[in-house]
Amino acid sequence: MNLKGKTILITGASSGIGESFAYLLASKGAHTVLVARSKAKLDQIAQEIQDKYQVNAWVYQKDLGIVSSAQELYQEIKGDGVDVDIIINNAGFGKWGKFEEFSLETYTSMIQLNINSLMELCYLFIEDFKEKSESGIINVGSTASFIPVPYSSVYAATKSFVLYFTEGLVGEFADTNIRISCLCPGSTASNFSAVADPNKQADTSTTNSLSSDEVARLGLEAFQAGKHYVVTGRRMQLKIFKFLSRKRVITLIADYWKKLLGLEK
Ligand SMILES: NC(=O)c1ccc[n+]([C@@H]2O[C@H](COP(=O)([O-])OP(=O)(O)OC[C@H]3O[C@@H](n4cnc5c(N)ncnc54)[C@H](OP(=O)(O)O)[C@@H]3O)[C@@H](O)[C@H]2O)c1
Repeated sequence: MNLKGKTILITGASSGIGESFAYLLASKGAHTVLVARSKAKLDQIAQEIQDKYQVNAWVYQKDLGIVSSAQELYQEIKGDGVDVDIIINNAGFGKWGKFEEFSLETYTSMIQLNINSLMELCYLFIEDFKEKSESGIINVGSTASFIPVPYSSVYAATKSFVLYFTEGLVGEFADTNIRISCLCPGSTASNFSAVADPNKQADTSTTNSLSSDEVARLGLEAFQAGKHYVVTGRRMQLKIFKFLSRKRVITLIADYWKKLLGLEK
């Protein structure tokens, strides 16, 4: 798909993978619609993109962890006459620690952001996309989409939804002009771990991370190549897990995270 002149909405564009997508797509001549809560950061990115690549960059400050915010966002974009061709549902956050360590409000807004808003934006934009000759959706899952993750149970379950939901849509829209793909990153250098683990409980010093630029590039390449999903980073563990019982996988991952978080007795 030729991205030049396309208008691409990116949620979570103020940092990490979303910010990298914004610069990458602008460098290919695409206009961007940047969404997140941090307006100053979005304004700065939009300004840089417009100056450097001579494309449009619209900014929408929105907390997608709030009920109905995705529908509000859609209405605002339509009201402004912005015609979106591709959406990248990238905004998301996780928490690392014991299940009961975090508030119910935290989990509710995680589910609202990672699942409900993502699904709602797909639902709303797909109606418009049916009328277009070329359009698309990239939903950002995780390597956690494939496995249960003790000590990040709610987050991993939300990402499991993202992969299965996206693959469902891939099947439903296979014979249309809507291209759909799920980007499943492994560990990526971004603000993610600071949000997941603000007290730096986890020792991630030995974790190998890809840069967010690299992950966005691989995600876009997969989308362009018509792949319905792509895993970035270390894939070997996921392959090995296929040969073990689910119980064994759960135990292994629980032990790994207990150690990482210093929860071992
Ligand atoms: N980094 C990793 O290792 C990794 C691995 C697998 C999957 N992922 C996934 O990759 C995606 C991007 O994460 P990242 O690594 O780039 O982390 P990041 O640097 O923390 O970026 C997260 C983005 O989401 C936005 N966001 C968070 N809460 C939001 C809310 N309530 N409403 C609107 N926007 C919100 C943030 O902006 P504001 O704070 O300004 O709102 C930010 O732009 C996420 O879906 C994450 O689950 C990351």
